[in-house]
Formats: sequence, C-alpha cells, structure tokens
Amino acid sequence: MTPLSPLYADLSPYYDRFCRDVDYAAQCDFADRVFRTFGDTPGRAYLDLACGTGQHLAHMTGKGFSGTGLDNSQAMLDQAALRCPGATWLRRDLAGFVADAEFDLITCLLYSLHYSHPRAALRETLRRAWQALAPGGVLLFDLVDESGVGTRDAVTRLSEDDARFTFRSGWRHGGGETLHLHVSIEREDAAGWQCWTDRHAMTAISLAEVRATMTALGFAVTVLERDFTRLAEWDGASFNVMVVGTKPARRFPMEQPDPCPEPAGACRAAAVGWDTRCQATRTPHERTAFPDVAG
Ligand SMILES: C[S@@+](CC[C@H](N)C(=O)[O-])C[C@H]1O[C@@H](n2cnc3c(N)ncnc32)[C@H](O)[C@@H]1O
Repeated sequence: MTPLSPLYADLSPYYDRFCRDVDYAAQCDFADRVFRTFGDTPGRAYLDLACGTGQHLAHMTGKGFSGTGLDNSQAMLDQAALRCPGATWLRRDLAGFVADAEFDLITCLLYSLHYSHPRAALRETLRRAWQALAPGGVLLFDLVDESGVGTRDAVTRLSEDDARFTFRSGWRHGGGETLHLHVSIEREDAAGWQCWTDRHAMTAISLAEVRATMTALGFAVTVLERDFTRLAEWDGASFNVMVVGTKPARRFPMEQPDPCPEPAGACRAAAVGWDTRCQATRTPHERTAFPDVAG
C-alpha cells in the first residue's frame, strides 16, 4: 500500500488552478455515455477513486448519480466536500478500501490508478473495485501504457491577484515498475519568486498486464481511445487509453434474453468480448461502431 503523501496536501489549494485546462464536463459526459452503453444495472450509485477536489463527482451528481469520493488526502477531500456537500467521503488508500455499498459506476480518472504503487497494489485496487461493483456495473479509468510514457511536461500558466503562476507536471520512467511524477508550482509577484517542487512515485504498467488482471477477475474488458467526444475502439496505436471493465450482470435462467441473432463474431459487441451485452436488450447491433447511446 502507498503511504500517505504530503504531495496533494501542499497542492490542494492550487489543484483546481493546476487543472484548469482539464475538461471535466466532457470527461463526465463520456463516463455517463460509457455507463449507459456498457452497464446493465438499474442503479446510479457512483464511486470516484482518487477523487481529488471532487470535480468529477460534482458533474456526475448533476447527472443523477449519488456520489461517493475516495482519496487518501484529507486536504483534497476537504476541498471536495466544499464542492459537493451531499456526497459521501472515504479517506482510504486506493489499494485498501472496502466498500460497504455496491456501486453501479466506479471511475478513477486523470491517470490516478497509476498512484497505486507498486504493481501489486494496482492489481489489488482493481480487485477491490471488482468487489465494490454491482453485477452489471462498470469500472472506467484512463491508463498510459508503460512503453508510451513521454518526457514532455504539461505546463499551465495563469495570472491572478498580481501574481503569475506556472504549473508543470511530467512523468519520467524510473525503470522497472516506477514512474516518477515531477510537479512544480512557481509563483512570482512584486515581492519575489517562490518555487515548490515534488517528485512522486507512480506505477509503470502495460495495458496487456492490466487487461489480463481484469480478465482474470471476471471483467469483460473494452479498450477505447482517450477521446472524450466519442466512443471509439482503441486502434492499437496510441498509448493513452480509456479502459472499460464491465462486471457481468447476474441473470436468472428465466431472464436470459434471446441469443444474438447475428452470426458469431459479426457484431461489434461480440468482437470485443462483450457477449453478455450481445443480446437482444440493445438492438439493433451496429457492425462498424459501438452500440453507443446518444451523448
Ligand atoms: C491527479 S489527482 C486526480 C484527482 C481527480 N481524479 C481529478 O481528475 O481531478 C490524484 C489524486 O489521487 C490521490 N491519491 C494519490 N495516491 C493515492 C492513493 N494511494 N490512494 C488514494 N488516493 C490517492 C491524491 O490525493 C489526488 O487527490
């Protein structure tokens, strides 16, 4: 398990400014669309792992989900509670949570699953998410394949109250299982220049290993492009992906829908191993695209 880190305690007052270029609304539209396309559960109980300041929770509760946020930083949870006063909070490690409720949708966004360090902890987080999901529920997270970790930093600059801020973050592969996240905040005003830096260990892992771990747990896994404007199957070229894990719905024999009328392997749902969804409940099947619901 990862020890509690001061990184996000220091960063928490600046976090939203740091992430001002992140389009949380688009990410949540995407998550809702993934849920309606891949999920098969009547509920809307939502858990956001590594919820930070609660930006995803705020959007998702606005879409009718009941929200729970998990994070190991009390400072981040305090910010999140101001944003989403009606939500439930769990101060826990990603690899150490036990949910006392079943969730229909679990997300872990902005590559936060990589905070489960080392790989054994990341695999444990996936196992706990599996346990916390209702049958038919969906796990959604973004991942960067270890072979595609770049060296370019993301830089955000802004001016506020006569001060200028520069936020930088970037990953460096530390070899083996470790990705080092470098974060810095520079603040410059008439009184001078201040700089705060941090280096934090995250997990380097391949998509293949994540997929194998999830499949062994029982998930039906679909990999999508990290493009929040559409549901597009991963083309195998990019390194940043969205991973969808669906926990098969529990069905009683009497409730089994008719088998898919299409020849084996002909419809997209079957092609991605989504065979519990390749049933009559969502027709017509589309051969060239996901049986996506409207955005
Ligand atoms: C990059 S932020 C992402 C926050 C949020 N998901 C977002 O998209 O804005 C990562 C979050 O993960 C939390 N975190 C880091 N390591 C963690 C761990 N081992 N267990 C639980 N939370 C963790 C941090 O406190 C921080 O709030």
